Amino acid sequence: MNDLAQRLNRELGAAAAFLSPEGRRMYFPYGGILGQSAQARKCRLNATIGMAFEEDGSPLVMECFSRNLALDKKAFLYAGSFGNMELREKWKALQMEKNPSMKKVEYSLPVVTGALTHSLRIAAELFAGPRDEMVSPDLFWDNYELVFGEAAGCRTSHFNTFRRGRFDSAAMKKALMAPGEKKILILNFPNNPTGYTATLEDAKAIVSAVGAAARAGKRIVVLLDDAYFGLVYEKGVHAESLFAEFAALHPNVLAVKLDGMTKEDYVWGLRVGFISFAFKGASEAQLKALEAKAAGNIRSGVSNVTSVGQALALAAFADPQYRRQKREKFAVLKSRYSEIRRIFARHPEYAERFEAMPFNSGYFMCVRPKGVDAEALRRHLVEKYSTGTIVLSGLVRIAFSTVPKARLAGLFANIHSAIGDLT
Ligand SMILES: Cc1ncc(COP(=O)(O)O)c(C=O)c1O
Repeated sequence: MNDLAQRLNRELGAAAAFLSPEGRRMYFPYGGILGQSAQARKCRLNATIGMAFEEDGSPLVMECFSRNLALDKKAFLYAGSFGNMELREKWKALQMEKNPSMKKVEYSLPVVTGALTHSLRIAAELFAGPRDEMVSPDLFWDNYELVFGEAAGCRTSHFNTFRRGRFDSAAMKKALMAPGEKKILILNFPNNPTGYTATLEDAKAIVSAVGAAARAGKRIVVLLDDAYFGLVYEKGVHAESLFAEFAALHPNVLAVKLDGMTKEDYVWGLRVGFISFAFKGASEAQLKALEAKAAGNIRSGVSNVTSVGQALALAAFADPQYRRQKREKFAVLKSRYSEIRRIFARHPEYAERFEAMPFNSGYFMCVRPKGVDAEALRRHLVEKYSTGTIVLSGLVRIAFSTVPKARLAGLFANIHSAIGDLT
């Protein structure tokens, strides 16, 4: 059991006997991203948080959301456990527009959730029992551990993420082929923490590895965490969701798409997301049954999802400025990505002190410090350089989504100097 959970149970003393097995496993991850962010709150340069800020430091939010707050009174009625039907249909139409490959496969109507974490939790509760195994790359968003390991009580295992600068699909295949008939595979592109999206070649290898495992008799639930969908900055990268590939792959593969507006539409506190299902040969009745399973889970959890948030989403999608504003916000993040590439090209000496992990998309990138401990470096950056970063799996994660372009050079100079101080 996790140390933090044990500590809470000890503090509860005799009252811990009231807890269920899930209650005993539960803890709040103070030490993870949230705790590290709190330590960096007062830093002059804060690259910790998975949100986005404008060049002037204000929240990077589209006006089509912030302006539409005067909603019709109907926005306060219950939306129902499946979600607002108009929004479900609109999101499906948008998914197909953004992912032409999805027009070619049959899949469910998206069910509305309280955003991506809730979609993950629903997936965990529907598919991941104590005897099942969740498999993900070893560079992953740390909340997967809480959702699958602690809440669902599922075994979790991780495979090597990168080999020679590419996604290690051979390691993924080995993990899928390891003992155990059923596997729950999570793929997250653009990835948190690395900012990596599978290239076209990676994508082929990933799909073929899952196909081979399915043909060998493995039953695989592929969860596609598409939180950062659309934020791809390089050519040659698989810009569409992998959902369509898995939807049509093999009857042993269940594809589950987890997506929503949180990151791609820059509305972190709105709390509207979706979960969609497909598998090869699925009938309409089978897809409807999966939708009803998700809605039943919602009914037994939060009953239904924010109706105000759903109404605001519909209003934003109907706003003629939506697409233009979305392109403008994308351009802000892309220009920071390009600036980081320019900084690395200008400073070849940085490579002596840290290695940039592969990145091509999303809100983040990671560096691996050479010869110093990542956690010691993080603390030193906060204390001496007033610079906040996050340490995950031995890497230092930089959320360039939060740092104005003009300050990125200073941020990497600080990292370079701080490593020099510690060696
Ligand atoms: C990879 C990934 N998935 C899901 C989420 C959760 O998103 P939401 O705020 O919509 O629950 C995050 C948030 O940081 C994330 O990084």
